[in-house]
Amino acid sequence: MALIGSDIAQAKAHLDRGELVGIPTETVYGLAGNALNEEAALNIFKTKNRPEFDPLIVHTHAIEELDKYVTEIPEKAITLAHAVWPGPLTILLEKKSIIPDLITSGLSTVAIRIPKHPLTLALLKSLDYPLAAPSANPFGYVSPTTASHVNDQLGEKIPYVLDGGPCSVGVESTIVGFEHDAKPTIYRLGGKKVEDIESLIGEVDVKLNKSSNPVAPGMLLSHYAPGVQVHLGEISDLLKKHHDKRIGIISFSQSFSAPNIAKQIVLSQNADLDEAARKIFSALRSLDSPEIDLIITEKLPETGLGRAINDRLERAAVRY
Ligand code: TXA
Ligand code: MG
Repeated sequence: MALIGSDIAQAKAHLDRGELVGIPTETVYGLAGNALNEEAALNIFKTKNRPEFDPLIVHTHAIEELDKYVTEIPEKAITLAHAVWPGPLTILLEKKSIIPDLITSGLSTVAIRIPKHPLTLALLKSLDYPLAAPSANPFGYVSPTTASHVNDQLGEKIPYVLDGGPCSVGVESTIVGFEHDAKPTIYRLGGKKVEDIESLIGEVDVKLNKSSNPVAPGMLLSHYAPGVQVHLGEISDLLKKHHDKRIGIISFSQSFSAPNIAKQIVLSQNADLDEAARKIFSALRSLDSPEIDLIITEKLPETGLGRAINDRLERAAVRY
């Protein structure tokens, strides 16, 4: 198992040797390695069992650092960066050659983000390279929101997890690109609300990849999926339909009763979408157990972080 602790110097020592470390962010925990070191990057893909056509996000600690890694920053990207960073937003920018092609899966853009977590910001400041960090889960599985989630799945493969407590946002960063000059595009719904982004830079397009064979890398349809099947719909109908199965329920704010409910998680008694976002991934994990045949869950309101949560639930419910 990996060592779990809050020692920034120890995390740095591993990273300086080209090794990988679990790091906390406000969204989810990342599996971090030196983004300028191809071997470390390759090790990230291997450790996660992630296909190399799915590019990584590069994390840094200050907007002033961006010049080292990207050729230009559009006006609206600058506005967003200043308003949101450090925070749950990733911006796609044209890369300089210092960023290995492996990191971007051969794309001309690199995904950059300044995460909002004091330990990770201090760690990034202490390094003389940025960190590539995908979510610290095996490819296709639910993202980790605590250090022990990371240890449960990747502990055998990495030396250290920097423990920054449970993630305060709970879903991954929102990804925004500026390829089409006029209107920015959101490629992944996440911790920064679409409404907030639009109030800063005007209307955006939302283009999520819903195909199982995406033209653009990443954003595969079946993702965030626990081992136990997930069914998304009206909980009371699904309970009737599956009366012969041992059910795990994840509901937004209501509780349900039926003899075959093995475990039930209410995301937010007060119907608070931010609280639901903090809990969604650990809820999916805790119902992924041999005592449960089927996870039943429902769509949340399509507003604020509800949009990102619904996106994750839809992907978790897909089976090929
Ligand atoms: O909140 C987050 O963003 C977390 C924490 C650790 O920072 N990281 C994260 O990384 O979610 P990951 O690897 O699980 O998801 C990165 C997503 C992938 O879907 C990938 O396809 C997309 O970012 N991506 C990365 N570079 C891209 C690029 N140049 N163009 C389009 N999509 C890109
Ligand atoms: Mg991920």
